[in-house]
Amino acid sequence: MSSPTPNLPFKDEKLLDVLHIKKYFPIKGGIFKRTVGHLKAVDDVSFSVYKGETVGIVGESGSGKSTLGRVILRLLDPTDGEIHFEGKDISGLTARKVRPFRRDMQMVFQDPFGSLNSKMSVAELIEEPLLVQTSLSKAERKEKAIAMMEKVGLRAEDRLKYPHEFSGGQRQRISIARALIINPKLVICDEPVSALDVSIQAQVLNLMKDLQDELSLTYLFIAHDLSVVKHISDRIAVMYLGRIVEIAPKQALYNNALHPYTQGLLASIPEVDLDGTNQKREKIRIEGDLPSAVHPPSGCPFRTRCPKAHERCAVDRPDLTKVGEDEHFVACHLYT
Ligand SMILES: Nc1ncnc2c1ncn2[C@@H]1O[C@H](COP(=O)(O)OP(=O)(O)OP(=O)(O)O)[C@@H](O)[C@H]1O
Ligand SMILES: [Mg+2]
Repeated sequence: MSSPTPNLPFKDEKLLDVLHIKKYFPIKGGIFKRTVGHLKAVDDVSFSVYKGETVGIVGESGSGKSTLGRVILRLLDPTDGEIHFEGKDISGLTARKVRPFRRDMQMVFQDPFGSLNSKMSVAELIEEPLLVQTSLSKAERKEKAIAMMEKVGLRAEDRLKYPHEFSGGQRQRISIARALIINPKLVICDEPVSALDVSIQAQVLNLMKDLQDELSLTYLFIAHDLSVVKHISDRIAVMYLGRIVEIAPKQALYNNALHPYTQGLLASIPEVDLDGTNQKREKIRIEGDLPSAVHPPSGCPFRTRCPKAHERCAVDRPDLTKVGEDEHFVACHLYT
């Protein structure tokens, strides 16, 4: 086993504290469109993000990853819980009061085509956040945009072209430039490479990693599977049906996954061996679909698909509990 990891960046200053966040979407029914139930997209999620680290958030479609990201950025209001950014509670702020924080928190979306206005040139797209958020002059905006284009690997002479004239990977570079032009502290990357060819994915991931170091960025990096977040993350949180079921430093998660769901996610990707000490993992196959977030299973949300479920799992909901030395937490009765 590798030694504990004393020098990880997350040992330092906290940037973000997510405390018991819930996001329930009302379900309307009947002719009067009354609320007849709730879809629990995010259901009591807590974790912290430290300055300079990358926290990967992984889980299958519908587990609540994007909703969590949007709530953290206050693009959606939380149903309950608090979000503290640099120690300040931003969860209850009005739209106007939340605006200054928008500079510090940006999002990069999965679909670089859909999220870019096709009628705007690259220069306009990249300068727009400066126009909205700063009082820089036209010449200053242009200068900054050109510098940012070069930073993300786009050619300055392409600045008057339109998004459709670029490849998917280049469009994602435009989105990244837009997100970074106002010097945010936190960037939430919602599956930023999922729509790209595998060969391009690595280039964009490497770019994001380099920019993180250069600009001292903190990333929350959302992905479907554990292979994409492997290199970029310091810690990884695994979500299932609106809840974090395991969160740990990357080495601990890949080499010693504890939750049967995490073990199943690992079994579904080609062999990962981070440091050559990969232990023989039990191969767990996850079958069936994610249960409904409107009527989640009693007790542990994963128990209906868990090969190790026992009686208690249907009765008690397991809390995220610290196991071992590393900041390794798991919500599973096998360990409590
Ligand atoms: N605006 C909305 N209104 C109602 N339900 C929503 C809304 N947005 C998301 N949901 C539901 O919340 C749940 C979580 O969705 P979310 O998009 O956060 O999942 P995800 O993990 O990002 O999935 P994917 O990997 O497909 O992007 C899903 O059941 C989804 O249908
Ligand atoms: Mg999503």
